[in-house]
Amino acid sequence: MKILMVSSEATPFAKSGGLADAVSALARALARLGHDVRIVLPRYYSVDREPLELLGGPMGVPVGPVEEWTAVYRGSLPGADVPVYFIDHERFFGRDGVYGTKNETDFRDNPLRFALFSRAAFQLCRKIGWIPDVLHVHDWPAAMTAAVSRHVETKGDFEGTASVLTIHNLGYQGVYPKEAFDYFRLPWELYHDAGFEFYGSINLLKAGIACADQLATVSPTYAREIQTPEYGFGLDGLLRARSHDLVGILNGVDLEDWNPETDACLPASYSASDLSGKAICKTALQKEFGLPEDPSVPVFGMVTRLTDQKGIGDLFGPTYGCAYPMCADMKIQVAIIGSGEKWCEDELRSLAARLPNFRVRIGYSEKFAHLVEAGSDFFLMPSRYEPCGLNQLYSLRYGTLPIVRRTGGLADTVENYDQETGDGTGFVFDRLSPRSIYDTVGWATWAWYNKPGQLAAMRVRAMSREFSWERSAAEYAALYDRAVSARRRG
Ligand code: ADP
Ligand code: GLC
Repeated sequence: MKILMVSSEATPFAKSGGLADAVSALARALARLGHDVRIVLPRYYSVDREPLELLGGPMGVPVGPVEEWTAVYRGSLPGADVPVYFIDHERFFGRDGVYGTKNETDFRDNPLRFALFSRAAFQLCRKIGWIPDVLHVHDWPAAMTAAVSRHVETKGDFEGTASVLTIHNLGYQGVYPKEAFDYFRLPWELYHDAGFEFYGSINLLKAGIACADQLATVSPTYAREIQTPEYGFGLDGLLRARSHDLVGILNGVDLEDWNPETDACLPASYSASDLSGKAICKTALQKEFGLPEDPSVPVFGMVTRLTDQKGIGDLFGPTYGCAYPMCADMKIQVAIIGSGEKWCEDELRSLAARLPNFRVRIGYSEKFAHLVEAGSDFFLMPSRYEPCGLNQLYSLRYGTLPIVRRTGGLADTVENYDQETGDGTGFVFDRLSPRSIYDTVGWATWAWYNKPGQLAAMRVRAMSREFSWERSAAEYAALYDRAVSARRRG
């Protein structure tokens, strides 16, 4: 099959979270299965044009009152035969930040930037003379591609091209003032008919959900949760209406990037049959983070965007969060790398100043993310909601037992510890509250000091759990088939 991934992020070119990892890894896995898969991305400022090939001639894209002229560059995914096309437009993408910056977290012209990008996908295919069977669009920035596919590109080149939308995070929908609709160059009746309308504003993700031939999200549990008011962010009704076209397909682990046996970011490699390298990583982590280098104390790691989704209020909320009492009461160490909401960054620094066993790095660093995954004994991920979550999958692979809330992909991938039998691959709790995080960390700490044999067995079990992108890619291939049949049926 010919598949074009339309995404605002893909590693290693542009990444703000798991979306980037998922898109590139899925593309690689589909290519390994023999599909002709390609990716289109905006050419952000951070993407160096130097190693890329400029495709001759400017490319016009119909947005706004005039056609916008773009350039197209071509590169490829490292280690795979997957072409990556970059849409270059200085005014729209020639700036720092994918969606925004620290000061302006959501660029005011985002609806225009991503309208241009969404429509450029079609022009690109025409330009390179390659018409895909499926446009696989990801999250709100690319969702409009599905609306254009359903309502505009219905005859001619794209008549038989189906669209599939993967929802990686329903919490971000691309809601903007209605006035931006003019800029999309779509007839006004589509404001309602294509599902853009959302309480008097436009909602790009909603239009994508209404228009795509098939829908996916990134875990079976999240696919069920988003059809409820509690997790539906106002779109649960629409999702229930489309439930026959919605599946949950778990993400996987890309072993090229996340494999303790080959990880170049680590001071030592290790495997389930020889964990001595993990002890070296733990010492290195303690050293890098300025924690006492003591192998007998358990290290709890975290690698995260600091946003409400990740449970940061219950952990770090000033005066009520459980991080302070946890570190003051228990013989543990905590090592965190993260960036995001300012209050939380400030609070983390303040906790680190008050607690000798709590250390934090504010910022984004691949190297430290890998070191925290490898060097920690436990991984904390008490998310309020979690569509899939990649970090707990990486933790399992690295023998770092995850402590998670039973939600979304966390519920589908982590098996709770049973202290009678020693079964399980992590620690799972239900209700999100400072108390339940405190108690579950306490439970893991108790097991560390009292049941070391059981924990050792759990670690080996966790490392042997397979979350392969090949399986996800095969499920997506079946979904593409269904989408193409639906499109051809009309
Ligand atoms: P989400 O996409 O919701 O942030 P995931 O668990 O799916 O959550 O993916 C997060 C990805 O982002 C992982 O690859 C993780 O290593 C990475 N990441 C998050 N924060 C940081 C950080 N501060 N530094 C380095 N990598 C980070
Ligand atoms: C989103 C979700 C995360 C998921 C990732 C990749 O960022 O928050 O749970 O793992 O997308 O699908």
